[in-house]
Amino acid sequence: MKGPIRCTPPMTDIRVFAPAKVNLALHVTGQREDGYHLLDSLVMFADFGDWLSVAPAEETSLAVQGPLAQGVPTDARNLCWRAADLFGAPVAITLEKHLPHAAGIGGGSSDAAAVLNGLDRLYGSRAVDALALGADVPVCRLGSAARMAGIGEQVTALDLPELHAVLVNPGVDVPTPQVFKHLTSKTNPALPDIPQGGAPGDVVSWLAQQRNDLEAPAIAAAPVISGVLDALNDLPDVRLARMSGSGATCFALFDTPDQAFNAASILATQQPTWWMRATVLS
Ligand code: C5P
Repeated sequence: MKGPIRCTPPMTDIRVFAPAKVNLALHVTGQREDGYHLLDSLVMFADFGDWLSVAPAEETSLAVQGPLAQGVPTDARNLCWRAADLFGAPVAITLEKHLPHAAGIGGGSSDAAAVLNGLDRLYGSRAVDALALGADVPVCRLGSAARMAGIGEQVTALDLPELHAVLVNPGVDVPTPQVFKHLTSKTNPALPDIPQGGAPGDVVSWLAQQRNDLEAPAIAAAPVISGVLDALNDLPDVRLARMSGSGATCFALFDTPDQAFNAASILATQQPTWWMRATVLS
């Protein structure tokens, strides 16, 4: 008896996740002659982020939807579009925006990385210079715990336990170039060795000894960040609070998911206009 006729299904769209990126520590260790800063950062990714779909098309297009779609460009100003151009294949992109922009959690970079990863799955992997899209794009292509160095091009995967966190953004845009411009000390110590394969408490104790060197210049540009950190430090069970990237998003770490959810709901009643999410970092 003949079996059913098998045919290759037409290539349809591919759905890709673009998680929020969190810099748990970010040391600025120098500055290159072209002005870019040398960084040494421990980066992890949230279980929360934007969602994209990419589908083969005659020409590139971008539709943006979702709760934080307002104001997001739908043309070549958007890093997603530039990622498709860099890859060299026209593609129809749908971006479901959940992450605040210019927020220090890599929204645009993670979207661009997701487009590149989606195109790899559609067309096969191509060597592209992801760094050309932004310093955070290489680490966002990995999408899991990593040490990021150089200006962002050196990415080393790390074996770290999951951490429970609350992310908070007070709704102010902090432009990254402005924060770097106001950084006074540009030659700070690098990160010491990162404890791998251990318990969450080992990582949190280690993090407590580290810094985000962009915190002070970001607070100078947007003083509300200092209020966010104070509010996070006042929450029950908080282990550590710090700013991510160039701000204004800050994070707080907790031992358990329940503690993180409880803290987020307390803060939501205190500050109903702030964006916040309890999340797991990995
Ligand atoms: O790479 P990205 O587009 O995120 O960088 C935005 C700006 O942040 C750059 O134009 C530069 O002013 C600053 N920057 C830097 N050193 C880095 C990354 C970014 O000075 N390693």
